[in-house]
Amino acid sequence: MPFQLRDGILHAGSTSLADIAAAVGTPVYIYSADAIAAQYATLRSAFPGARICYAVKANSNLSVLRIIKGLGAGFDIVSGGELQRVAAVGGAPESILFSGVGKSAAELSLALKLGIGCFNVESEGELERLARLAERLQRTAPVAARINPEVDAGAHPYIATGLKESKFGVPAAIAPQLCAFAADHPWLEIKGIACHIGSQIASPAPYLEALGGLLNLADELLAQGIALEYLDIGGGFGIAYRDEAPLDLAALGQAVGERMRGRRERLVIEPGRYLVASAGLLLTRVEYLKKSRAPGHRNFAVVDAAMNDLLRPSLYGAWHAVQRVQPPSAEATTAVWDLVGPICETGDFLAQGRQLAITPGDLLAIDSAGAYGMALSSNYNSRGRAAEVLVQGGRFRTIRRRERMGDLLALEWAGLED
Ligand code: LLP
Repeated sequence: MPFQLRDGILHAGSTSLADIAAAVGTPVYIYSADAIAAQYATLRSAFPGARICYAVKANSNLSVLRIIKGLGAGFDIVSGGELQRVAAVGGAPESILFSGVGKSAAELSLALKLGIGCFNVESEGELERLARLAERLQRTAPVAARINPEVDAGAHPYIATGLKESKFGVPAAIAPQLCAFAADHPWLEIKGIACHIGSQIASPAPYLEALGGLLNLADELLAQGIALEYLDIGGGFGIAYRDEAPLDLAALGQAVGERMRGRRERLVIEPGRYLVASAGLLLTRVEYLKKSRAPGHRNFAVVDAAMNDLLRPSLYGAWHAVQRVQPPSAEATTAVWDLVGPICETGDFLAQGRQLAITPGDLLAIDSAGAYGMALSSNYNSRGRAAEVLVQGGRFRTIRRRERMGDLLALEWAGLED
């Protein structure tokens, strides 16, 4: 548990979250470096031989990337922007995988020039474009074909990626052609095959099904003389946001290990959420209580964080635990509350139907917000993004300052000039 109550006050290690709120203000994302390291260690022991490439999209703060680099991970990126973030923290180019369905020529060229470890190619068009650019730049492009394994991982429809309806990857049937094209091309080097079947996956079965498909394909390719270096099963490892049983990582690791035993290829995984979700929370302050006077109406706690800060509840109906940061005062009202933000949208809620004793001014922590929290934030309603704080070694520091209005307006002043 990265965050614990001590004397009724929520702490990260020895640091009181109330102290952080007093120093930095709210809303603020708070991450625990120790918790990220602990998650990494669990993953590492479940997949001892695997190459771990952190999916940067889950939380791309530079300080978070630096911690994860320090733990020994590589990176899975999906844009030139993420590539530049990894480069900014000195991530080794060869430790980077580039996923994504819409890589632009500029993004591919930048990645080629930097010499990244692998392009996980998602279409014939992309492979052809990459081959042309590689030839023009005289740089060999290491590639893997991302297969759509057509496995139902039971994820929320917006985050299921391995269904045949989804836009990701190429059908397994055309993968051999793609790999053969890459193997024969003078400026392409075939490295592996990859898949990613979704996110917040709760059971090993879909992974094993997808891995089975990759193994068959690898064997088929080997029979054609194409030897692969690795098999990438993607990310998606589910955590417990509520009381759901989390993915049994040890069992998955063991089952995957058994299937990989004696094989020439190395396993690659691309975890995002698993490393950072539970290591972070969003701290917010109660602004107003709107208690219903009529039966059947809802009680609203209006807080200073909103859907622009944490979109998951509005976008996916995601459930995040909410807890008090300090003991309730004598004026606190105990009721069942909907936590809503100041944004002018009915969908602007962070949690619904929570029993809490609260009063205006109270701090609340929204748990397991370290993944796809800040990363999905926006400036909707002209709200500056929240600050981010890292707790490490008994100290805390701001790793992204709160956005000011000047930051937002700076990009638009030029438009007012005649
Ligand atoms: N690899 C690829 C190719 C991906 O597309 C993703 C996530 C990952 C790895 C990492 O998946 P993870 O281990 O984090 O589940 N915004 C959603 C999640 C979207 C995931 C998109 N792809 C959410 O907040 O639940």
